[in-house]
Amino acid sequence: MTNILVTGGAGYIGSHACKALLAAGYTPVTYDNLGIGWRDAVKFGPFEQGDLTDRERLDQVFAAYQPAAVMHFAALSQVGDSIRSPETYWHNNVAGSLTLLQAAVHAGCLDVVFSSTCATYGDQDNVVLDENCAQHPINAYGASKRAIEDMLRDFEGAYGLRHVIFRYFNVAGADPDGEIGEFHRPETHLIPLMLDAIDGKRDALTIFGTDWDTPDGTCIRDYVHVMDLVDAHLLGLKWLERDKGSRIFNLGTGTGFSVREVIDHAGAVTGREAPVIEGPRRPGDCTRLVSGSTCAEAELGWTPHRSTLRQMIADAWRWHQSGHYER
Ligand code: UFG
Repeated sequence: MTNILVTGGAGYIGSHACKALLAAGYTPVTYDNLGIGWRDAVKFGPFEQGDLTDRERLDQVFAAYQPAAVMHFAALSQVGDSIRSPETYWHNNVAGSLTLLQAAVHAGCLDVVFSSTCATYGDQDNVVLDENCAQHPINAYGASKRAIEDMLRDFEGAYGLRHVIFRYFNVAGADPDGEIGEFHRPETHLIPLMLDAIDGKRDALTIFGTDWDTPDGTCIRDYVHVMDLVDAHLLGLKWLERDKGSRIFNLGTGTGFSVREVIDHAGAVTGREAPVIEGPRRPGDCTRLVSGSTCAEAELGWTPHRSTLRQMIADAWRWHQSGHYER
């Protein structure tokens, strides 16, 4: 079977990608430092513990498995944290990706599928963001991902490294089989925090700002189901296998939901109200991030068929009630 090196394969999105890769006939080789990820989430192929910045370890892993491609998920990804501690984002995300790409080129592994983010666009009020929109990130997380996009482009020019870049909008939901799901410690994301509040695992959900320039005053995001997201990654891999050239795709649904709308949907799905507190804005947040994702649909043939808010919350709720990991 063809090996695919999956950095961050022990994390939320990476572990779902490993499951999908195995189902599609590949062997996903997880490379993860377990800083954020969970050993128990590595269920679908070999595990190699290591850091993105460790060139020697990366060289060993490339030599041992000779992967046909890299899916590069490993990253720090908390917007607020990136404002407080930008150096860790530049070190881990940018310097780490540089080391990874150098090792990949050295090993002759020249196909990369990369997790980027709509946070690279920054706050562009009332714009539906397509791939050609200017990128003006307003936090170090978005800036670090934009820098890696530039790095990929330059490595293509110099070394022929082909890449598909996916700019994710807000990923949510869980494996419908319940084998894996979203589990961060600390958790910062809206839906798992809201489910914790519904479940009594925390006192209340704090809404970060009710004075944004949106109809109900809370931020708007475009939520995409993690299973749909990983489907796109497999299509991206096939795209590279067919030698169709490097490309950037947004992955969102084109529909935005406010924080209050997400809370209302969760009440309907779980039959329980989340206790909420209205708090101040979180530094680094954008008002509204909504994708135009017609490119992925038209060119990759991607269909985000599980990405209704109701389905994402229902799958996350099922996982939330059953699953947790141990390192
Ligand atoms: N929010 C709250 N209260 C919370 C947590 C979140 O009101 O306790 C709000 C946020 O302010 C934001 C929305 O819910 O308006 C979504 O917040 P998340 O933290 O769930 O997600 P972000 O939009 O900040 O960021 C996520 C990923 C990033 C990715 C980004 C793209 O963490 O990696 O989506 O929008 F880049």
